Amino acid sequence: MAHFRINGQQPLDGEISVNGAKNAALKFIAASLMFDGPVTLTNVPNIEDVRRMLSIIAELGATVAYEPEKNYVRIDPCTVTNFEITEEMAKKIRTSIMLVGPLLWRFGKACIGYPGGCVIGRRPIDLYLKGYQRFGAELRVDGDTFEFVAPELHGMTFIFPVISVVATETFMLMASRVSGTTVLKNAAQEPEIDDLIDFLNEGGARISRNGSIITIVGVATLSQSKPYTIAPDKIEAATYAVLGIASGGDVTVSSIPEHFIKSFNETLIKIGAGVEDKGNGAWRYFHQPMIATDIETGPYPEFVTDWQPLMAVLLTQAKGVSTIHERIFENRFSYMEELRKLGAKISYIEKDIPDPDTHYHFNFDPEKEYQQTIQIQGMHKLHGAVLNVSDLRAGATLAIAALISKGQSYIHGIHHLQRGYEHFVEKVKALGGDIQEL
Ligand code: EPU
Repeated sequence: MAHFRINGQQPLDGEISVNGAKNAALKFIAASLMFDGPVTLTNVPNIEDVRRMLSIIAELGATVAYEPEKNYVRIDPCTVTNFEITEEMAKKIRTSIMLVGPLLWRFGKACIGYPGGCVIGRRPIDLYLKGYQRFGAELRVDGDTFEFVAPELHGMTFIFPVISVVATETFMLMASRVSGTTVLKNAAQEPEIDDLIDFLNEGGARISRNGSIITIVGVATLSQSKPYTIAPDKIEAATYAVLGIASGGDVTVSSIPEHFIKSFNETLIKIGAGVEDKGNGAWRYFHQPMIATDIETGPYPEFVTDWQPLMAVLLTQAKGVSTIHERIFENRFSYMEELRKLGAKISYIEKDIPDPDTHYHFNFDPEKEYQQTIQIQGMHKLHGAVLNVSDLRAGATLAIAALISKGQSYIHGIHHLQRGYEHFVEKVKALGGDIQEL
């Protein structure tokens, strides 16, 4: 199996241009099936998850022209004939669940196996099942297969009991073509949501967002008049920012709007890391002495869960004891044991008794025990080790950790990282990192 060999402790310097957001591109691919004609997307990241999502819609019959090196894709949804997402297709990627919406709208029926995705928690699909039924679909569950029949779809009101990014997006794109008005309350507010709204509205949809309330009036046609450029990736931006700071280097990340990474930058400034706004969406990140802090993840615009593994590496180099409290997923510390192999002093806090007044964002069960908080003792020198990656962001985290460690590291399971990072090895090398894919 492919793996990375990394020789650490080179300060990384230079400029990185961030690619289009994975977590936007995947939804645009699903949304393209709601259009009446071909859709062209640019700034599509050249990553495994995009290939997986495109392969699923191609199996459904869509005509797909993908030029990964040009970050270009053209999708013609008019050739879709298949309404069945088999278990094998669904397991490829969690966003396969979004495709039920377009299939229901096109055929009045759809079928899907249980979707896959990173193992960072239970990853339930109850919200999707409820939402599809609220749009008017009937559901039949046969083992791990979900069959929907929709004689007629209509708008609905949905109050999210737990904020969900992909479920918000799924209901938005579906609502844009069903009769009547849909109102989504306590909806997600990520920049990727606004990007999807802009994309659909450019095609003729009628969607407006007011804070956490999204209103969608169904329209009779959706058609694209010019290619749509996907907005940049706020998680990739944070990855290279952390790499620059933690390695003792100086990295400028270009083309990322301020509000995409506001709470991330604020946290960096709080711990003393170097952050400079160079204007026009360019941000310079550089090393300065850092102090410990306490971080809690939350839905955007709070500090998002995807940034916490990256921050954990940075906090190994900050003076004092830091804590990270994860509130979105139940199992997002898989990287912890691996960081310990490098010499990091990092552990679950001994008494992690959840506060019943804390608003948990996963379906919190007060009867169950959770370990949601880690503590990191800073300023320990890290050394090379053999590491195993078990999810996408853990992959980037461990690569950064190896890059700041003394000596050689080997990282296995890099296919997880390649699901979401375009040309990771080339970009790190361009900044001066010693990394090889073997
Ligand atoms: N949830 C439910 N029921 C559902 C769906 C979600 O209880 O039916 C819960 C989840 O268990 C979780 C919470 O809701 O506790 C929030 O999960 P959400 O649905 O928002 O996650 P997601 O939409 O599946 C997206 C990103 C993740 C990112 C989260 C942040 C995509 C493709 N994925 O996942 O990105 O961490 O939002 O909320 O947009 C990544 O890029 O590495 C990644 C995992």
